[in-house]
Amino acid sequence: MATLTIDIRHPDTEDASALSEVFVSAWDEAYRGIIPDVDLRRIASRRGPEYWTHVAQNAARQVLVLSLDGAARGYVTFGHNRHDRIPAQGEVYELYVDPVCQGAGLGRRLFDAARQRLAARRSKGLVIWALAGNDRADGFYRSCGGHVAGEDRIRFFGRNYRRIAYLWR
Ligand SMILES: CC(C)(COP(=O)(O)OP(=O)(O)OC[C@H]1O[C@@H](n2cnc3c(N)ncnc32)[C@H](O)[C@@H]1OP(=O)(O)O)[C@@H](O)C(=O)NCCC(=O)NCCS
Repeated sequence: MATLTIDIRHPDTEDASALSEVFVSAWDEAYRGIIPDVDLRRIASRRGPEYWTHVAQNAARQVLVLSLDGAARGYVTFGHNRHDRIPAQGEVYELYVDPVCQGAGLGRRLFDAARQRLAARRSKGLVIWALAGNDRADGFYRSCGGHVAGEDRIRFFGRNYRRIAYLWR
């Protein structure tokens, strides 16, 4: 039986195309029906390989990539909490797994890895925001021990969306 090598590491520029594909496919699957298609395409067009090359060159320390046999299949970005109202020092900004690889424990591995990195930086507590209606993310975050800590509204391309904050103390 063939075995897959799973690695979690910081990105390099060679991951740019694969990360672009992970973002676009996972974003599209998660938010189709919540965000209009025209806006999904707009956001996707901003997250091409150039964007990820820039991230790998300038902000790799804030990103962990999960690769299967060397190919990026998911990523997590994290750092300081940007919201004063939420009692946490850390934040996971984005967590995306290639839809064909979802449900196999990879999201949990990425989440745990980001949490460990934040803890190693002496960052206490963690928040993640997800758009209301993203039921998979809601189930995932609750299953990982997160508690709903609040909600607010954000604007994308002129439309308002409700989003939920999940907190780990
Ligand atoms: C949300 C996401 C990161 C989860 O990653 P994943 O690899 O599919 O999740 P895992 O297989 O690691 O699941 C981890 C745990 O969550 C649980 N879980 C996953 N989806 C769930 C759901 N819809 N309802 C309930 N529990 C769920 C699993 O049962 C598992 O529990 P266990 O560890 O106790 O067995 C992934 O589905 C994804 O990328 N979604 C699209 C992008 C997105 O919505 N990102 C979050 C935006 S804020």
